Amino acid sequence: MKKYITTPIYYVNDVPHIGHAYTTIIADFLKKFYTLEGNETFLLTGTDEHGQKIEQSAKAKGKTPMQYATEISQSFKSLWDKMEISYDHFLRTTDPHHIQAVQKAFVKMQEKGDIYLGEYEGHYCISCESFFTPTQLKENGGCPDCGKPTQIIKEESYFFALSKYQDQLLKWYESNPILPSYRQNEVIAFVSQGLNDLSITRTTFEWGIPIPSQKDDQKHIIYVWLDALMNYVSALGYGQDGAQMSFWEEAIHLVGKDILRFHAIYWPAFLLSLELPLPQKIYAHGWWLNEGQKMSKSIGNVIDPQAMIAEFGNDLFRYFLLREVPFGQDGDFSHTSLIDRSNSELSNDLGNLLNRVVGMSEKYFALQLYTESLQEFFAQELENINQIIHSALQEIPQARFHRYLEEVWRLFALGNELISKYEPWNLQKNGEENKTQALLVLLCNILYKGATLIYPAIPQSAQKIVQALGKDLGDLSSIKTHYFNGFQLTKTDPLFPKIQKPEPKMPPSSSQVKQEETSLIKIDDFFLSDLRVGEVIEAKRVEGSDKLLCFQIDLGEGRLRQIISGIAKYYDPQDLIGTQVCVVANLKPAKLMGMISEGMILSVKDDEGLKLIVPQSKKKNGSKIG
Ligand code: ME8
Ligand code: MG
Repeated sequence: MKKYITTPIYYVNDVPHIGHAYTTIIADFLKKFYTLEGNETFLLTGTDEHGQKIEQSAKAKGKTPMQYATEISQSFKSLWDKMEISYDHFLRTTDPHHIQAVQKAFVKMQEKGDIYLGEYEGHYCISCESFFTPTQLKENGGCPDCGKPTQIIKEESYFFALSKYQDQLLKWYESNPILPSYRQNEVIAFVSQGLNDLSITRTTFEWGIPIPSQKDDQKHIIYVWLDALMNYVSALGYGQDGAQMSFWEEAIHLVGKDILRFHAIYWPAFLLSLELPLPQKIYAHGWWLNEGQKMSKSIGNVIDPQAMIAEFGNDLFRYFLLREVPFGQDGDFSHTSLIDRSNSELSNDLGNLLNRVVGMSEKYFALQLYTESLQEFFAQELENINQIIHSALQEIPQARFHRYLEEVWRLFALGNELISKYEPWNLQKNGEENKTQALLVLLCNILYKGATLIYPAIPQSAQKIVQALGKDLGDLSSIKTHYFNGFQLTKTDPLFPKIQKPEPKMPPSSSQVKQEETSLIKIDDFFLSDLRVGEVIEAKRVEGSDKLLCFQIDLGEGRLRQIISGIAKYYDPQDLIGTQVCVVANLKPAKLMGMISEGMILSVKDDEGLKLIVPQSKKKNGSKIG
């Protein structure tokens, strides 16, 4: 099958911001997903360079529109290159073949009898490049979409007979081309109220595509939205002899909700007039805010995608945008929430799983795994895995990309659960090596399938995972049911090092100052610390740190305490499980590498290294040390 995925072509009146990156990332996600599914794909993006708004912006900068458009267009292109967006074509509406295509379309619509000359009198928003009737305007006369002041224009204009297509459009919506469905309902409500014919030429500025047959006295420039929307077919060769338009029949348009009306009403009407097939799908997403506020140049709070990828890298930025917000709804860009997702979902759930699996495979099997007993030991687990993959894949045609990722993360959660459930270190102790090995093979399969499924979202990390597993990236049909019996693993750096949240700086407390004054303390001072014996129930490395171990300690409290301790250089975490240690139990919880630590484990260090302080023989967990 073919899949044609498009982004909007972005205006060149301003540099790219996070909203543009968002749409383009989703488009790239879909392209990669469909490619893994075995489709032939084509991803189109580009820039929208004509119109009054660009003409004005260029003038304000003292540049010609073409100079200005070329500069900004280049900044979009180089951002997509930096973000490793796999676009197949970057279209500029100033490209000669696009200009020809738009002019051909104009003639074709004229021949069809859909264009007539008249006079337009009404309101125009230059920022949205959109016409409005007086009743559509805000009370203060502002644009109903962006709120900016509108202009009254009165000029000779060609019109497109939009009203003629109302019924055909309503019929088309019955095939549910627009997702999410609440957005489609908005469109249907709008069209049902009745459509006015659309002014499709302007005469009061110059920066645009002239209509093909001009009278000398009136210079008609083609309406920028007719010009822009045509990019989706001009990129495939519309209007050129022998053009291969087979991708067109499988078009999926990605747009923000701000431009849904143009894509869901004008565009299909133009296509009907041109006797071209209508797009398969239009996916309309919501609006990104910055920490709850609308982003705007005047407030100065526009999030710059360049800065984001410089700070967090492509994969984390992509993951956050795709995962944070249900597709279609507005979202809030918050640094805290990005860091939280990275530390918990990427570092803990995924990175740690890979680490533990590679670590145990190294320790017990020198990184070489083989089993023929997956089915024998883990029949139920195999079924669960297949089920999770099945339900993840069902989310894509519904445009629920956040749900897709949520489902895939159930796989990683399952992997982590299986380690706790089967305790491979105990299997080893009890001489059940076969089962340990089968478990590790199962876990590698989970990681392999998971990596394939997350490749569209976080391609670089997915590649690293399959490399660590000694395989090549799979495809979606093979991971549905196929399991490998063997893996030859390679050790790898932590995938997602923990990110420290910026913490507010505190002045030194008065007790700190006091302590510096005298080095002798009273016995009561000593008893301020609550020292207790606890047992190590779980121990693992903290990803992104070669010093820290993360412990779950039983202090007889009916719950486990998490304690982070800097002893990773001296102990293998697996060797400490079951050991009793001495713990300072009443320390104020602290955060280390983004993880909470609720206490301190006592140890002693000299030139020969570090040893834990342990009771001479087993004591009840929680016993007080005095
Ligand atoms: O409308 N949140 O171009 P444009 C989410 N040239 N998405 C956002 C966003 C935000 N805060 N801000 C922008 C145009 N976007 C026309 C399109 S297509 C034939 C012509 C994204 O530069 C979103 O995809 O104003 C929105 O639809 C698009 O940028 C608008 O880009
Ligand atoms: Mg815009």
